[in-house]
Amino acid sequence: MARFVVAPGGQVAGRLRVPGDKSISHRALMFAAIASGRTRVTGFLEGEDCLSTLRAVAQLGVTVQRPSPGEVIVDGVGLHGLRGPQGVLDMGNAGTAMRLFMGLLAAQPFDSELVGDASLMRRPMERVAKPLRSMGARIETVDGRPPVRIRGGAALQGIHYDMPVASAQVKSAVLLAGLYAQGETTVVEPAVTRDHTERMLQGFGAEVLARGGTVTVRPPARLEGTEVAVPGDFSSAAFFIVAACIGAREPVVIEGVGVNPTRTGLLEMLALMGADLRLVNHRTAGAEPVADIEVRPARLRGVRVPERLVPLAIDEFPAFFVAAACAEGETLVTGAEELRVKESDRIAVMARGLDAVGVRNEVLPDGLRIEGGPLGGGVVDSHGDHRVAMSFAIASLRASAAIQIRDVANVATSFPGFADLARAVGLKLHERP
Ligand code: S3P
Repeated sequence: MARFVVAPGGQVAGRLRVPGDKSISHRALMFAAIASGRTRVTGFLEGEDCLSTLRAVAQLGVTVQRPSPGEVIVDGVGLHGLRGPQGVLDMGNAGTAMRLFMGLLAAQPFDSELVGDASLMRRPMERVAKPLRSMGARIETVDGRPPVRIRGGAALQGIHYDMPVASAQVKSAVLLAGLYAQGETTVVEPAVTRDHTERMLQGFGAEVLARGGTVTVRPPARLEGTEVAVPGDFSSAAFFIVAACIGAREPVVIEGVGVNPTRTGLLEMLALMGADLRLVNHRTAGAEPVADIEVRPARLRGVRVPERLVPLAIDEFPAFFVAAACAEGETLVTGAEELRVKESDRIAVMARGLDAVGVRNEVLPDGLRIEGGPLGGGVVDSHGDHRVAMSFAIASLRASAAIQIRDVANVATSFPGFADLARAVGLKLHERP
């Protein structure tokens, strides 16, 4: 099993770029597949998760070409042009792919079956299956989990859905099914979640109305192929933002990062801790705001994280917990029970990792209390969770001895090239087979 061994004493510095946004890359391929005409995607994330989506789209009869790194050309088949796949659709580690495909496939005339790796096969799918069933979809899960079997040929009705969990994946799946439903479909979110689906569907010509946590889609006659420029993934930048806060030798600049406000809760959380962060060089990539993020080292103080920020930073908590471990005093995160159903149970797995490097913490049902203090070395099991693995690599910047991180192969699901980039900016990271 692949592992990282990260020696202490690293310091980060310089300018860097991170790979393309995972959420946006998945959506670009799916929407392009059902658009009419050609879509060109640039900055596409060539990580395993998005490659699962790419393979699935091809299995559904869509021609996809990859002429150069990060460039994908999709010849859309139109809303009703997908073909039934041969065999099952394997989503690998990608929860986003599985849940969004559930919405898309529920509306197709053919049957399909979705599976994934061991982690994905444990993750809850009823949160998506339920609202889709109420639209008329015929979907089965096994004890709420994959394999997900979808019977084709269902006539879908638009719904008004009050989401019980703040989940962009659930929202997106319902909106995708809504493209094919009779009448309009409205989703109401209990808290703001990432809005890439709404923004991008508009770019493909769909009528989407989003206001104050309520999103309505009307079934379009067609979607039009377009250009999608994918910004750098804020969730990947997060590791280097935290790295710079806790262990920079000089300012670190991360260029070309997507800074959609539904994604950047981490910046607010770190600012509350006293971090020195600046967004400069603002521009846009299609419908998405982009900026360079400048970070200088700072003394961080423990904070109580406002619960309203939790959905806006949901994928950044592993990195944030490392920042909290390096802060003075106590940090308290609550209202974050969703962390338990990510690629791993990120509350339990991060707590065990913090224990392993000597950081005192208390596990709560919906969060974690962390007492900042000196970090030692130790052996951390990432449980195959890419974000846990990368977070403990960053923690080495403040550790007094080497941190060994087990089971890191899945780093490639979201951040291909992480180890090389981490070394290039100053981490003392070694990969071991
Ligand atoms: C995502 C939504 C979030 C996030 C995931 C990507 C998306 O999941 O954790 O990594 O692309 O819509 P939830 O919808 O389960 O919160």
